[in-house]
Amino acid sequence: MRQIAPDPIRAEYARLSHQYDHRWSFYVSQSVEETLRRVPVQPSDRVLDIGCGTGTLLQALRQRYPYIALTGIDASAEMLAVAAAKLGPSARLCLASAQRLPLRGEAFDLVVSTSALHYFRDPARAVAEMRRVVRPQGRIAVTDWCRDFWTCRLLDQALRRFNAAHYRTYTLAQCAGMLQQAGLRLERVERYKIDWLWGLMTVVAVKTSA
Ligand SMILES: C[S@@+](CC[C@H](N)C(=O)[O-])C[C@H]1O[C@@H](n2cnc3c(N)ncnc32)[C@H](O)[C@@H]1O
Repeated sequence: MRQIAPDPIRAEYARLSHQYDHRWSFYVSQSVEETLRRVPVQPSDRVLDIGCGTGTLLQALRQRYPYIALTGIDASAEMLAVAAAKLGPSARLCLASAQRLPLRGEAFDLVVSTSALHYFRDPARAVAEMRRVVRPQGRIAVTDWCRDFWTCRLLDQALRRFNAAHYRTYTLAQCAGMLQQAGLRLERVERYKIDWLWGLMTVVAVKTSA
């Protein structure tokens, strides 16, 4: 059977899925809100969340825009099960790899991804997939923790040694560069802290050509 993501990621989130929302409640609510503050969303948008996890961002959008069209993909069936329980049939959820989306091209107005980039073994491929599925003039917004902050650099070093699911974090310039190299126009490039430990970044980019 084709693997959706490396075993350590699936094992990590199979284990974490039931405690994830509670354990990471501050981090997730802050990172989702900071992302949504930085990207314009229309009630008629078709939104794709890559690495949607337990569906917190999709749920926040559903509460704001009752008729918005929501799709989430994730490599963990257990995380998606939690998302499905929260969202019901109001969102389309799909077990898939960020690096190989089973979705047709130009099908979305907005593609978002929060706190998942540091797991992707082939991030350039994942960004190319984001670009493929967003429509011309549509937006891509990527948020992740950022290695420009020394606290995040230390955490990255520790996780690289002790956590097989973790891959690597990026500086703001590296993250923005990935989107630019995929042929996207940068619209908003920011790093910010949500508390003493977590320094995040959000890069919003526009697909200017087909
Ligand atoms: C830290 S959680 C973030 C979940 C959610 N976006 C949030 O902000 O709460 C990372 C998620 O990325 C997913 N993930 C990791 N690698 C992936 C990949 N290659 N393709 C799809 N999902 C992936 C994991 O299964 C997990 O649910």
